Amino acid sequence: MCGIFAYKGQKTNAAQLVINGLKKLEYRGYDSWGIAFKTDHRVNVYKEVGKIGEFDVSTLQEKVDSPTESSMAMGHSRWATHGGVTKENAHPHYSADKSIAIVHNGIIENYVELRKELKEKGYSFKSETDTEVIAHLVQEYKDLGHIEAVKKALSRLKGRYAVLILCAEDNRLIAARRGSPLIVGKGDNEFFIASDIPAFLQYTRKVMYLDDDQMVIINDDAVFYDLKSNKEIEKRIVEIDWNAESAEKGEFPHFMIKEITEQKETITRAINQDEKQFTHIAQEIKKAYGTYLVGCGTAGKVCLAGSYLFAKIAKRHVNVTFGSEFPSLQDFITDRSLVIAVSQSGETADTLEALEVAKKKGAKVLSIINVEGSSMDRISDYAIHLKAGPEKAVASTKATTAQLAILTLLSYALDNRLEEGKILLVNTASQINDMLNPRYEDHILKLAEKIQDVESMYVIGKGSNYPMALEAAIKLQEVSYIHAEGFAGGELKHGPIALIDKGVPCIAIVANDETKHEIISNAIEVKSRGGYIIGISPENHDVFDYWIKVPEVGEASPIVNIIPIQILAYQLAILRKNNPDMPRNLAKSVTVK
Ligand code: M6R
Repeated sequence: MCGIFAYKGQKTNAAQLVINGLKKLEYRGYDSWGIAFKTDHRVNVYKEVGKIGEFDVSTLQEKVDSPTESSMAMGHSRWATHGGVTKENAHPHYSADKSIAIVHNGIIENYVELRKELKEKGYSFKSETDTEVIAHLVQEYKDLGHIEAVKKALSRLKGRYAVLILCAEDNRLIAARRGSPLIVGKGDNEFFIASDIPAFLQYTRKVMYLDDDQMVIINDDAVFYDLKSNKEIEKRIVEIDWNAESAEKGEFPHFMIKEITEQKETITRAINQDEKQFTHIAQEIKKAYGTYLVGCGTAGKVCLAGSYLFAKIAKRHVNVTFGSEFPSLQDFITDRSLVIAVSQSGETADTLEALEVAKKKGAKVLSIINVEGSSMDRISDYAIHLKAGPEKAVASTKATTAQLAILTLLSYALDNRLEEGKILLVNTASQINDMLNPRYEDHILKLAEKIQDVESMYVIGKGSNYPMALEAAIKLQEVSYIHAEGFAGGELKHGPIALIDKGVPCIAIVANDETKHEIISNAIEVKSRGGYIIGISPENHDVFDYWIKVPEVGEASPIVNIIPIQILAYQLAILRKNNPDMPRNLAKSVTVK
């Protein structure tokens, strides 16, 4: 949800550097973009509607009416929330006197009242955004001095923000956060600020995380403040282990297929971690009076799969809910509860709010996340990192299977069979390595070519593969834009089977376990109504019109079963001329409610 990137240092091409860095954050928002850069006593702003990835940075000079040499600049790539996709609504936003420019990620909940108040004071608004009020507020308080004006303006805001501020009369770059991510990168005599690390990974791996209600002022050094106590604070520099290549597409045409292919290694990375953390979390689950798994979208489906794995492997009940629904269930939460968040980004606002609610009730909170140092990582009592490397395609793939692997291993740890779980997953990783090859992709491509023009598709599964049917539908919807729905196979006859007509594709996920006979008979019911059955299974069956083989991996079947559907979704997107990395209306992490 919106990418922010800024630079302050010795280089004089800050504007161009910021545009190039923003291109690496485009997955966070891609409907419009803009930059602000400082020259002498002026803040220059340039904005465009469209994807920043398509902008030729060498043309910047001819497009702006001032020299572009600058050593301080900031930029924003937008995913619209307040106001349509227009140049006026794109960030940065100027204050009325154009002395201040602001970029912002998050939502200012009281912007309507603030806008009214500022209008009454004579400020006129150029955009429909909630952000513009921040710029005018800083101007309104400018007699306090720049830093105090910013602090005062921030104290008037309700809601979540990551905000960056440039001022014509001040050489300092200011940033503050509450609820939306901001990370400071420290290079040699230069600093970067970004909403995600890939923006500056080519320059530095030394980072400092800004926490909620903290501000950083960057001049020759970075000075951090706690906004609540108004005191200076020390920040630890953390060296991250992502390399610059891991955040690039390399030889692949899209991040989505790169990340699908990386599943050859990511399962192994997820499980090859300190075993103590799995046993520790297993102990916490055993101790807790009620465990909740919480996530959104794909991560929510992983949570549901987790509840089946915990039940079957460890004979343990866990509750599952979407992040957005968690507050409605909070009355059950006590200081003896355990809430486990599952998330790729660690920034999804609905999941984060669930953790905040749980913490207020005194519950223990854990997270299973990919992005180290993210908000969920920082507020959790304990975290397991996926170690999947940066996931940049909007559609989650390698993070999904890493989350499934970790929940599978946790289930085994709960049943004191950690070693057995590890052997199963090592074998699964090796089977995935063999499975992911060009011939396999070609076989799925033939299916994609056959069904590329259908209006709807359905996916059925049972047991731990029922959540994979739901996840398959999300994958197909978000990148192919084909109407897709997932069901528990046994539910079809209670209504959805009315949707089946001649030739309608139905993917049946058939695990080689006790659910096999029932899901096959559900597929037969669909076929007898004219449905075209695509079987995902270790073994072929008469009912399948098209068979995609997956390895036999016992309880790890959800991991291998979702991979061919990820490939199918990717190929359908390409055939239908959609950009799989940046699907319409979506952004990689949803940091607003
Ligand atoms: O970063 P998170 O895992 O918390 O994100 C949750 C969902 O927004 C995410 O899984 C979304 O559903 C993906 N686009 C699915 O591919």
